[in-house]
Amino acid sequence: MIEKKKIAVVGSTGAQGGGLVGAILSDKEGAFSARAITRDARSDKALALAKAGAEVVSADLNDLESVKRAFDGAYGAYCVTFYWDHFSPEKEAAHATALAKAAKAAGVQHVIWSTLEDTRRWVPLSDNRMPTLMGKYKVPHFDAKGEAEHFFTDQGLPVTFLLTSFYWDNFIHFGMGPKKSPEGNLVLTLPMGGKKLAGIASEDIGKCAYGIFKRGKEFIGKTVGIAGEHLTGTQMASAMSRALGREVRYQDISCDAYRGLGFPGAEDLGNMFQFYKEFEQMFCERRDPGFSRSLNPELQTFAAWLSRNASRIPIA
Ligand SMILES: NC(=O)c1ccc[n+]([C@@H]2O[C@H](COP(=O)([O-])OP(=O)(O)OC[C@H]3O[C@@H](n4cnc5c(N)ncnc54)[C@H](OP(=O)(O)O)[C@@H]3O)[C@@H](O)[C@H]2O)c1
Repeated sequence: MIEKKKIAVVGSTGAQGGGLVGAILSDKEGAFSARAITRDARSDKALALAKAGAEVVSADLNDLESVKRAFDGAYGAYCVTFYWDHFSPEKEAAHATALAKAAKAAGVQHVIWSTLEDTRRWVPLSDNRMPTLMGKYKVPHFDAKGEAEHFFTDQGLPVTFLLTSFYWDNFIHFGMGPKKSPEGNLVLTLPMGGKKLAGIASEDIGKCAYGIFKRGKEFIGKTVGIAGEHLTGTQMASAMSRALGREVRYQDISCDAYRGLGFPGAEDLGNMFQFYKEFEQMFCERRDPGFSRSLNPELQTFAAWLSRNASRIPIA
């Protein structure tokens, strides 16, 4: 029997990593096996992954030695960090450094770094169209990931930079779904004007990553962008109306108003939406749904995602 190549998956109990582990496990005849990395191998999610056939290994990105052990013997590593757990670009950098060092120590042959644009390449700190945050960022959770790319290249690693997109799951988990107006109408509020948002079902990110691993060396040293569809707020509201069986209206607000909403991360997200809006063409061109489907033939459209998930969107 030919031994399968192990892919060590960070965040295996979460959205991106979970999609990748699922894709590897469903491809029973495939050349890869899944090593699911979690901080708690006894959690319900970790036990479910073990039951489904993954090798479950404990590691914490705050503990370099544990990540080295988790990557040891792996052919590939899927590397993602968790900005919204701590809201700290510095911590994200420290975690990316640990991932790169561990991949180097383990001699991993293909690393995928889940990344986003360092928006300061397009909007330098001196550009006042949006506020500078935390002293040196425009969109901290983007900039920190883009900046961290050098940790992987500095180590001389065989790396693919995977540019992800806005999760449609944010309409379920991130409080971004339609809300009831005082008149009782459902309103989807986003500061996107009439511009298109590159979105994706979060599990499809991991499935596209699997497509990248399957294509061997083809994308090593390259940046690859993915999205399920590019849609305006009006188009997303119409699709939601069809899926929910009641009208959802799109309401545009200014990025300034969004930044002022007051919830943790509102300024970061306000700047993010402004970046999406003002660099719509570049951002969408870098994330071609046709190409994404070539990596993941099961790639969902927004309507397909809604047909499975609309009932999970909380509507107060
Ligand atoms: N929301 C969006 O639209 C969007 C779009 C693009 C990119 N992103 C980025 O996606 C990233 C998060 O990825 P995700 O959504 O896949 O994550 P997720 O679903 O929130 O969680 C992934 C898993 O990571 C594990 N984890 C957390 N801290 C860890 C640590 N210190 N060491 C080891 N494992 C740890 C946790 O597993 P255990 O509890 O089992 O350890 C968690 O279940 C963020 O950085 C975000 O900026 C988000």
